[in-house]
Amino acid sequence: MSATDLNPDKLLTTTRAVRKRLNLKKPVPIAVVHECIEIALQAPTGGNTQSWQFMIVTDASLRTQLADLYRTAWDKYRGAPGSIYDLATKENEPQRKQQHQRVISSAEHLVEHLQEVPVHIIPCMKGRNDQMTGSYANAIHSASYGSIIPATWSYMLAARSRGLGTAWTTAHLIYEQAAAELLGIPYDQYTQVALIPTAWYTGKLFHASLRRNVADVVHENNWHST
Ligand SMILES: Cc1cc2nc3c(=O)[nH]c(=O)nc-3n(C[C@H](O)[C@H](O)[C@H](O)COP(=O)(O)O)c2cc1C
Repeated sequence: MSATDLNPDKLLTTTRAVRKRLNLKKPVPIAVVHECIEIALQAPTGGNTQSWQFMIVTDASLRTQLADLYRTAWDKYRGAPGSIYDLATKENEPQRKQQHQRVISSAEHLVEHLQEVPVHIIPCMKGRNDQMTGSYANAIHSASYGSIIPATWSYMLAARSRGLGTAWTTAHLIYEQAAAELLGIPYDQYTQVALIPTAWYTGKLFHASLRRNVADVVHENNWHST
């Protein structure tokens, strides 16, 4: 299916985390990246603040240094409780276990090849809330992240519809400050929320993935309703 055949439902249900199918050899014109970001800028923000910045990383040396940070972070994540490795070990349902193992294999591939991915996008939100606690904290965290995550997902959808593969990643944030220093991001003023490797994808088809049933995740009128 060509990108232009993607109707909205198809686009939403087949925008996968692309790692093994990233074309590491074919350059990505910066104009296409800007086009995807222009679309992302139509996403909603709390109070219409639009206080976002998007760091685009194309320089080979910077990508190598970011990949080094990512790898070190991934080594920490690998042993962490709640990681995909941990989930895969504990999962008893065969299909889910297999899915976890596929994600691990794909994620390991990205760990090895991140520096070869031609473009990374690091969406940043204004301010730092990481130390915030108290009764307003959740409202503020939600408004902050909710004002950058929709735009980032829009970027990924716009990329997919143009033939570009992406994957949401957060591992490098364990070393966010080091990444900020590397890229000149003012750490005390902007919070990085993800790193989105971006490259043309290989092959044509993407499928909807195994997910929970709607009945298992909805509650109507009362949490305890069935
Ligand atoms: C908040 C968040 C953080 C993620 N962090 C990483 C990451 O650091 N590295 C990685 O390879 N994938 C990461 N992923 C991608 C998930 O593994 C992926 O979305 C999930 O396995 C579902 O894959 P699918 O969309 O292809 O079905 C992250 C996804 C989200 C939403």
